[in-house]
Amino acid sequence: MANLNKKNYDTDEDYPIMEGNRTFMAKNLTKELYRKLRDEHTSSGFTIDNCIQNGVDNPDFTLGILAGDEETYTKFAELLDPCISDYHNGFSKDQNHVTDLDVSKIKDDVLDENFVISSRIRTGRNLRGFCLSPWICRSERRKVEKLVSSALGSLTGDLKGKYYALPSLSEADQKQLIDDHFLFEKPISRHFTSGGMARDFPDGRGIWHNEQKNFLVWVGEEDHTRIISMEKGGDMKKVFTRWADGLKKVEDYIKQNGSEFMWNEHLGFILTCPSNLGTGVRCSVHVKIPLLAAIDKEAKLKEICKKLRLQERGTSGELTEAVGGVYDVSNLDRLGSSEVEQVNRVIDGVKLIIEMEKRLQKGESIDDLIPQ
Ligand code: ARG
Repeated sequence: MANLNKKNYDTDEDYPIMEGNRTFMAKNLTKELYRKLRDEHTSSGFTIDNCIQNGVDNPDFTLGILAGDEETYTKFAELLDPCISDYHNGFSKDQNHVTDLDVSKIKDDVLDENFVISSRIRTGRNLRGFCLSPWICRSERRKVEKLVSSALGSLTGDLKGKYYALPSLSEADQKQLIDDHFLFEKPISRHFTSGGMARDFPDGRGIWHNEQKNFLVWVGEEDHTRIISMEKGGDMKKVFTRWADGLKKVEDYIKQNGSEFMWNEHLGFILTCPSNLGTGVRCSVHVKIPLLAAIDKEAKLKEICKKLRLQERGTSGELTEAVGGVYDVSNLDRLGSSEVEQVNRVIDGVKLIIEMEKRLQKGESIDDLIPQ
């Protein structure tokens, strides 16, 4: 709950320092709007001050906003809508998002495995009726964990697996999960701590994976669940097929057991961070492209990726540097286009990038391949 003493103070006395704050939050939260929203709260008690803490504490961030529950997006729409539009390529408050998980529409090109090391798709899903990680209470967290781990426990065949609750993780299991790069990081980054998402760690958190270790679910991280499918090589259609299948089965189980995924026509799937609204999909490949990356110290690669609506980053997660010419290339958009479109864009885009790398290996020009 908000600090109730606030009411004794004028909203202008309470307005955060916004000078030098580069976030979309600071850009859009005028004094007038803050005046209007400060004493409002969602039915779970989440306030505008809770919502903007992430950006107030981190003036260098991009968005600086987190939702505490599903209602945050409607209750505080006057702030959220313009931030969503700024972040998501002009997506307007009157636009609707499209969901399309139809596997048959995914391109079946297998990306050249001389260049592509691995392929991955992840999304986040939250369960309706529970608060989101910045505002969730311990009992809700444990209930979400119970529901999700039972759903995962019902999977059979290639999807059969095991849940590892973080508080009870044995040394050996922990080592195994770290070696497999499966264990999500302790929530110690500024993004987690100033968002309130690190509270009660490791309570209610855990990791589940199937026996083949190519279908993986994080429980209780930034979103209630993060659902991941990955494997070595460049067969994205195969990765997508397993992902969509597992996702559907988990969804069906949750529906039969009293909840459902947060979703609406305007914003698609509801995620904690507005950056992930829509599909929540990050479809990525690890691709080795040292020659392309060397042109103007990555500038050319960045320019090409942007034109292809792709994003390049290092392979050790958000804000990391590339090592040995290996990049993580993923879809830039999440909202306003469907899962199918976003994944196909990665397949086509990476195919083109590999084509460019091959040209460069032969000492040829890539100018005619660069998208306009
Ligand atoms: N809160 C940060 C910002 O506003 C991170 C945004 C995206 N990353 C994430 N893990 N949701 O810039």
